[in-house]
Amino acid sequence: MKVHIAKTTDLLSVQSDLAVIGVYEDDNTIRLEHISDEYQRLLHDAITRKEFEGKMLQTLSALPASRSSGQRILFLGLGPENALTTDRMRKIFGHLAQVTEKMKVRSVAMGLPRGSFSEEDAVTAAAEGWILGAWQFEGYHQESKDRYLPDLHISGVNRPESAQQALDFGVVVANQQNLTRELGYRPSNMLYPELLAEEAVRAGNRHGFSVEVFDEKKLRELEMGALLGVGQGSIHPPCLVVMRYDAHAAKTLALVGKGITFDSGGISLKPSAAMDEMKYDMLGAGAVLGAMCAIAETKPRVNVIGLMALAQNMPSGSAYKPGDVVRAFNGKTIEITNTDAEGRVVLSDAVSYAAHLNADWIVETSTLTGAVLVVLGHEATGMVADDDGLAHQVLQAGETVGERIWRLPIYPEYKDLYKSKVADIKNSPGRDAGTITGGMIIREFAGGIPFVHLDIAGTAWTKEGPTNAVDGATGVMVRTFVELAHKIS
Ligand code: BES
Ligand code: ZN
Ligand code: MN
Repeated sequence: MKVHIAKTTDLLSVQSDLAVIGVYEDDNTIRLEHISDEYQRLLHDAITRKEFEGKMLQTLSALPASRSSGQRILFLGLGPENALTTDRMRKIFGHLAQVTEKMKVRSVAMGLPRGSFSEEDAVTAAAEGWILGAWQFEGYHQESKDRYLPDLHISGVNRPESAQQALDFGVVVANQQNLTRELGYRPSNMLYPELLAEEAVRAGNRHGFSVEVFDEKKLRELEMGALLGVGQGSIHPPCLVVMRYDAHAAKTLALVGKGITFDSGGISLKPSAAMDEMKYDMLGAGAVLGAMCAIAETKPRVNVIGLMALAQNMPSGSAYKPGDVVRAFNGKTIEITNTDAEGRVVLSDAVSYAAHLNADWIVETSTLTGAVLVVLGHEATGMVADDDGLAHQVLQAGETVGERIWRLPIYPEYKDLYKSKVADIKNSPGRDAGTITGGMIIREFAGGIPFVHLDIAGTAWTKEGPTNAVDGATGVMVRTFVELAHKIS
């Protein structure tokens, strides 16, 4: 599954079981110097027969007679030349990893496609796509299946040194994104707050960032009544994980994630259909953890604090109830009108703690509302932001790495929706503008520090992931967070 920069720029002289020839849709000539007439003929015949047109992700496998080595070739559609972006590159290489695994080859060589992006960005995207595409959740089957993951050699690179750096960057980010995906798949009996906190401790040791775990006792000392409230119905106690990457920089970025390891809804119980999906209600926290690992490896010049608010939302004799009032770390009170709106409750403590730590920017992400799926489906993350500067940085970071984000308005009138008669705010204002009020409620705890909320309920788990053909956890926001940290440093 490794990715290498080939020493030679000529595709066909790279030692490999399979040579992949990229073909554009609008110009089907092969752009390779030392290509034999036979290859041109093979492609030409396929095109005349309309077997292959160079459409994005289309493939055509062939066995040229003249190759005594037994090396096979694969034509791979790149789509129209002027439509090729680094995002498409990621998808193309992800698809290639899946196709070539089925071909049971050990090594694959492909020339780096060109477009209106730098060679370095192309290599990063190719490496990311390959590693994301090859990854699968192993599962818990009695017998594990054998996998044939070939190595990839990228040829046609002009600046091998900077390309190697770009490749290493892509490998780190994609591997950490896969860690996040893995956490999303893990069922809640195998990933409850304590275990996710242990994952963070191990990751901190591995990648070199510090990790503190605030257990129930510590949460009580700090008077984090909101996180405690949500967690009190479960046999698995809640905790807050504080991770720090210290670059000795002047500015600090705080990344905050919702980590509900299972969201049954609590006393406001969810319907049982598809309730199993709520094992992935911790993917905000998962993205923060994956991003912290990649940040510690790639070392941007900004301090980064990662906070994970971890709890399991369960109905029980000790569970928090509709009508309860909880007090968050910053002293604000929340009336619980629906125990299923638990994300904003746990985040109220985590975000006020980020403000307490004097972060310069707070970026929080959560699988917060079903409503964001109604607005944007699985195609984009919903953003609620108060600071235009930070909002633009995050939007741009997302665009650069191919993670779509769409900003929603925050009109002051929406505030009326979450007013409470008995507390400072109520947690569940109702259906109207549900994604916006969710974000605005969390923002109440940011203490006026530039704040961005990213609702990933639709993008953290998709039917057809950005790079994987099968459905499942995407690890969305890992790439955006890593890009953001480098961008603002
Ligand atoms: N974790 C859910 C949101 C969710 C829904 C995530 C679907 C992924 C897919 C969240 O805790 C929740 O239950 N939200 C409620 C909020 C409402 C009670 C204000 C919702 O969306 O219905
Ligand atoms: Zn939830
Ligand atoms: Mn819920």
